[in-house]
Amino acid sequence: MSSYIIEGGHKLEGTVKISGSKNAALPILAATVLNVGKTTLYNVPNIQDTQMMFKILETLGGKVEKKNNKIIIDTSKINKFEIPEELMHKMRSSVILAGALLGRYKKAIFSYPGGCDIGSRPIDLHLRSFEKLGINVVQNYGNIICDAEKIKGEKIDLDFPSVGATENIILASIYAEGVTQITNAAMEPEIVDLAKCLNKMGAKITGAGTNVIKIIGVQKLKDTGYKVMQDRIEAGTLLCAGAITGGNICLNYKNANHITPILNKLEEAGCNIKVEKNRIYMQAPKKLKAVDIKTMPYPGFPTDMQSIFASILTTAKGTSVIVENIFENRYRYTAELNKMGAKITTEGKTAVIKGVRKLSGATVKSTDLRGGASMILAGLCAKGMTTVTNIEYILRGYENLDKKLNELGAKISIQKE
Ligand code: UD1
Repeated sequence: MSSYIIEGGHKLEGTVKISGSKNAALPILAATVLNVGKTTLYNVPNIQDTQMMFKILETLGGKVEKKNNKIIIDTSKINKFEIPEELMHKMRSSVILAGALLGRYKKAIFSYPGGCDIGSRPIDLHLRSFEKLGINVVQNYGNIICDAEKIKGEKIDLDFPSVGATENIILASIYAEGVTQITNAAMEPEIVDLAKCLNKMGAKITGAGTNVIKIIGVQKLKDTGYKVMQDRIEAGTLLCAGAITGGNICLNYKNANHITPILNKLEEAGCNIKVEKNRIYMQAPKKLKAVDIKTMPYPGFPTDMQSIFASILTTAKGTSVIVENIFENRYRYTAELNKMGAKITTEGKTAVIKGVRKLSGATVKSTDLRGGASMILAGLCAKGMTTVTNIEYILRGYENLDKKLNELGAKISIQKE
């Protein structure tokens, strides 16, 4: 496993461009399976999770061609509907392929997905929704075997607005007979991006971005090109990297409306923010102020920013309280930040962060994708050198994070083992 080596104490300044969204690209890549032909995608981030998705598509019989900034996916020769277990275990989002394979073949065989260890992450809502659409779901020694004679549009009311389950229902019902209606659907911008891409391919989806989504079954999709939206969590992470160093940065980012709760909390912490059409400017104070945060489904404060915000609050003036409402095991990173001198205590869903004067460099171990990012940010402001080990978690989700931070004035390098 490789490490990041960070020399702390450098203020971030300058402009940085936000990459394509990981969480939008992954379901869109899965959606290409539904078109029997070629789909051209732009702005797909070059990260380990998308590489893994390419590998799964190739294993199924698809062709992935990378040309400069575009990816052409030819799914006309896909001839398998079983996702190999070892690939399922490497990435949680592989479960999204189940919906796409069911949509195309009415059959899918897969196993329980892997991914970041941030909670039990069941897939019961996905499987129950498949059954509602008339799909038989049989579980056999860890394998999940799904098949249907025909997929029939139905009304599905989700117990919780799960992002993955909403995406899987959309994918499975593109060619369904009749109309599928999801109530209590997830409203995340990544779902809107998936629906926009599918509609461009010829699907009929309305209501994405609200809590009621309708999918009218169609007969056929067509070849198309689509540009994946920018990554709101990367945008939030880089703003926080600027904030923790007392920096002054500008993001080339178009969708400030996707990160309203993040911008609001940064302002509450004392940052000056100016939003323009394609840019966000942020000037941080010398010392941030404590703020309280509760994670919620979109449009609330995103759980994926929880650890990153916690890290900037470690040196804020006062005591901050965080409540994590989405995942039950998302505080493992706090023990690592405490090794750097942070004062964080956790109890169930709640973390209490007492702001300290300064963090000190230490060797810390990345626990998951966003937890690992929080340690990088802590390293940027800590006194001395910080080593973040197990960075494969971080490489799964951030494109060129070290390069982007260095361009802003940080001193961070990768040490390969
Ligand atoms: C997606 C994002 C992830 C983000 C999360 C919440 C991708 C690739 N990942 O993950 O970065 O942190 O949304 O915004 O887009 N749940 C169940 N049963 C299910 C499904 C989910 O109980 O069948 C629970 C989960 O355990 C969790 C909550 O619902 O507590 C939210 O999960 P969900 O919205 O499904 O997250 P993901 O789609 O896995």
